[in-house]
Amino acid sequence: MALDVARLKNDFPIFARTVRDGKPLIYLDSGATSQKPRLVLDAERNFYEQHNAAAHRGAHQLAEEATEAYEDARSKVAKFIGAADNEIIFTKSATESINLVAYALSNSNFTDAKRFHIGPEHEILVSEMEHHANLIPWQELAKRTGAKLRWIPLTDEGRLDLSNIDSLITSSTKMVALTHQSNVLGTINPIAGIAKLVHDRGALFLVDACQSVPHQSVDVKALDVDFLVFSGHKMLGPTGVGVLYGRAELLDEMPPFLTGGSMIEEVHMESATYARAPQRFEAGVPNMAQAVGLAAAIEYLERVGMDQVQEHEELLVNHAIDGLLGISKVRIIGPFGGIHRSGAVSFTIDDIHPHDLGQVLDDLGIAVRVGHHCAWPLMRRFGISGTTRATFYLYNSISDVDALIAGVEATKKFFKVA
Ligand code: ALA
Repeated sequence: MALDVARLKNDFPIFARTVRDGKPLIYLDSGATSQKPRLVLDAERNFYEQHNAAAHRGAHQLAEEATEAYEDARSKVAKFIGAADNEIIFTKSATESINLVAYALSNSNFTDAKRFHIGPEHEILVSEMEHHANLIPWQELAKRTGAKLRWIPLTDEGRLDLSNIDSLITSSTKMVALTHQSNVLGTINPIAGIAKLVHDRGALFLVDACQSVPHQSVDVKALDVDFLVFSGHKMLGPTGVGVLYGRAELLDEMPPFLTGGSMIEEVHMESATYARAPQRFEAGVPNMAQAVGLAAAIEYLERVGMDQVQEHEELLVNHAIDGLLGISKVRIIGPFGGIHRSGAVSFTIDDIHPHDLGQVLDDLGIAVRVGHHCAWPLMRRFGISGTTRATFYLYNSISDVDALIAGVEATKKFFKVA
């Protein structure tokens, strides 16, 4: 059943405003951050107005309520991705979630947690399509430990080139870290198939699901990954909350990243023992209102239905690709023509710089992202400095896509590109 976009849009206060001299807002930048429905804004405000106290601290009523609200949010996130409650760690962002795992690995070298030890005899495998957030923490881990960083190259179509995967994932591989859906190309990677290879070689597998969890139903057990990260703000939730899923038996063995209050079991002047997961990884007073806001975002997405969200975005993407390919000199960067594709459409136009295109579209009230999209190596792979990228969500309509296509044609006229 098609989504009633007009009705959904009414749930998002920001769409009541106009931009650039009274133009309606056509927001095609949800891959960067999504807009927030009233339900989420109200949930955050209600937490502060009614229940605000430091969770897991204090014996008073508000502290109890704050703890309950925070832990309910954890359960909601866990169910949403098919995990157990103690497998969900709240962080401030997906970037922090990835750094947490990378630092836990190098920290393990000073502990008995042998399974995580990493050194010059090991390799870390990423891909050429990674967002910087899933590349630089691994570069740094390699520098700290002497491990070697390797990567899966890309096909010209913008998919992982798995032709040499057997020589890339070996018994030396300690960690494989891949994106589920590219934030630039829209490519959806075959995570479950790769997970089997990774585990056959005894390596760990982390998946960056920032662009998938908001847009399709994701089940961590079906994907069979060890770690999976995503952020609240790209899925209708607040900023300042990220999630790390980790398999329970791994989290219970893994050393902490941030240390401090509430992650401990017992403390002496010179040493301490640490709580089990998830508390072990949540030092400091947690981001309770943001976690509660994220739970409300999940409630909203579940009401709409993740399958409906995905189906709707597929319609928009196919319409966008057909329209853009009908314009001369447009080049789509990423796969097209197949169904295995998500809601990010990146493109270039010969003779028009992405920043110029972005500016003309902005004058028309159309918000897109331009540049390297935090994926500089990917740009190099395709021999370009940047792209214009439209990303869609449940509040976008076919007429938003038509406005983008008309905007691209208008830009070509403006710059006199035939
Ligand atoms: N990671 C976000 C994007 O792709 C910011 O735009």
